[in-house]
Amino acid sequence: MKNKILLTIFLFFFFNGIVWSQLLLRISHVVKNNSPKGRAVVYFKKIVEKESKGAIKIEIYPEGILFDDREALVALKKGLIQFAVPSFSKFADIVPEFQIYDIPYLFKNIQHVHRSYFGKIGSLLRNKSYEKGYVLLAMWDNGFKVFTNNKKRIKYPQDLKGLKIRTQGSKVINKSLEIVDAVPVTKPFRIVVDLLKAGLIDGQQNTYNNIYTQQFFRYQKYLTITNNGFLGYAFISSVRFWKELNLKTKKIILDALEKATIYEYKLAEKINFDDYYRIILHSNIQIIPLTDKEKKVWENFYYKHYNVFYEFVDKKIVDEVFRLE
Ligand code: LMR
Repeated sequence: MKNKILLTIFLFFFFNGIVWSQLLLRISHVVKNNSPKGRAVVYFKKIVEKESKGAIKIEIYPEGILFDDREALVALKKGLIQFAVPSFSKFADIVPEFQIYDIPYLFKNIQHVHRSYFGKIGSLLRNKSYEKGYVLLAMWDNGFKVFTNNKKRIKYPQDLKGLKIRTQGSKVINKSLEIVDAVPVTKPFRIVVDLLKAGLIDGQQNTYNNIYTQQFFRYQKYLTITNNGFLGYAFISSVRFWKELNLKTKKIILDALEKATIYEYKLAEKINFDDYYRIILHSNIQIIPLTDKEKKVWENFYYKHYNVFYEFVDKKIVDEVFRLE
């Protein structure tokens, strides 16, 4: 009888593919689960868990509940988490070349951005990340950023003068505000809504999706469609952790990531489009579009100042982006 029970248990585990030891992997990010990045991370988790038949379990820590993006970079190195998905601008603390995406009006559209991910620039960013102890596993989109503020209608770059604008803190972003005499205020993502609500900052720059899901629009009077820089994400791990994984596990992770990446690009485009209309529907925020002529004024203004950004990003890399146009 005892043997029969043991045999039944053995057959149960054998046929259900239940495994005895499970690899637990943690991912940290700062946005909501219903954002493009949040949803793609959930999708990635589902594929990995399914394809590994439960041998890998993924725990997601969204909304900065465990770490903000800069803390996550340290946590990765310490092995407290295995993946993080910070913005390029924040990962630029470690790999400054990521600031090319912050240079105003360098990238013309999303196709231009994608050509950079999958060409020489992407390889350069992967190599630089590796040198610093991080594996760049994928590059994800959010979208182009627009300005919101509570003080005045912004039509031209000089209108930003004197405004306190929250930034993610890359040197290029902060410099692009300082050259118009605005005041960059670098703060973690999760407290931006409270700063806006309390009037401690006048405005911020972000994508429609972040403006909508974080409710920034509720505390802002004006939104100017500047599209002045690109917000994208580095899906990263640490070299130390990655080297420990066997080939089979790496393959499961990379295959899942490939599917999640394609999904993420579609989501980012669709959700930003929808959230633009949701912002308008749910608020009285004044939308300030720019005519082609006005957009040219912004572009030309920043092109004239590109030399100040070469202090932070090698001109050769910027020229390479121009070649990809
Ligand atoms: C921000 O801090 O504004 C963004 O990096 C947040 C995000 O992850 O989209």
